Amino acid sequence: MKTYKELPADGGSDIVGQVTEQINRLEKRLASVRHTVTIMSGKGGVGKSAITTNLASALALSGCAVGVVDADINGPSIAKMMGVRHTKMEYGVDSVKPAVSPLGVKVISMDLFLAEDETPVLWNAATQKDAFTWRGIMEMTVLREFLSDTEWGPLDYLLIDLPPGTDRLPNLVDLLPNLGGTIVVTIPSGVSQFVVKKSLAMAKNILNTPVIGIIENMGEYICSDCGKTEDLFPSGHTEEMARQFDVALLGKVPFDPRISVCADEGTVFVADYGDTPASRVLKEIGEKIQTFFERQG
Ligand SMILES: Nc1ncnc2c1ncn2[C@@H]1O[C@H](COP(=O)(O)OP(=O)(O)OP(=O)(O)O)[C@@H](O)[C@H]1O
Ligand SMILES: [Mg+2]
Repeated sequence: MKTYKELPADGGSDIVGQVTEQINRLEKRLASVRHTVTIMSGKGGVGKSAITTNLASALALSGCAVGVVDADINGPSIAKMMGVRHTKMEYGVDSVKPAVSPLGVKVISMDLFLAEDETPVLWNAATQKDAFTWRGIMEMTVLREFLSDTEWGPLDYLLIDLPPGTDRLPNLVDLLPNLGGTIVVTIPSGVSQFVVKKSLAMAKNILNTPVIGIIENMGEYICSDCGKTEDLFPSGHTEEMARQFDVALLGKVPFDPRISVCADEGTVFVADYGDTPASRVLKEIGEKIQTFFERQG
């Protein structure tokens, strides 16, 4: 298969020039961002977006300038979770201002460009087969535009919330060869970890990108009446997975129904319920992320 650089003739579209211009634009935009961090899992529904939202807020509470990219183009949820769903977008000549959460976190999400809550993202094509082929390309194009056309300004951390799927990270690394680090979210079930291991192998062994660590989510429930802790899944496998891949286990975020309520309402769990076990773990993980990058100098 030939790459675009090897095309004998490009019909006058200057494809190499266009791609080079896109790369330069992205690099220029992200020059003011100190660290890019992707939150991934491979597995769906394990809490990537809720964790991203709360880590962004925890980092903001500790004084960092933070941005979040919702890389889930088809099923965006970050704008709602961060309470910015109904922001009226403002455009520059070739840029867009991000929505800003009550804690000052800058957010970009497909959701901000959709008219109604129920509006689905559709890629128009003559046939469903074509739509399927183009979907991946279109999603990558949107993600590149989110990264390069959003007026991020100076940021300490830009968190990128990936949709489920092990193939998502290679796509992102194509756009961001200098990705600062990956956080992998899992629940303790064997089925989740079966899939999550593929993501760890992809991030660490195949792409050779830095892995900040694993977060175990929803492994246990703490009774709000008596404080007793109950496992929701058989425990112990996350430690084993961290050992197997020689990566840090950053923390275990317990199941707390208020995380879900805050996500639904767009309020900030780590601020409104700051003195709960789940908030404490999330804030500790925020500190570990900072330490990870400080150690790199
Ligand atoms: N620790 C937790 N305690 C209680 N509810 C949680 C917790 N973590 C996540 N949730 C809730 O679980 C649901 C799924 O979480 P979320 O949408 O963040 O998962 P996801 O991995 O991003 O899903 P997807 O793969 O679709 O992107 C949401 O309603 C979220 O608020
Ligand atoms: Mg999500």
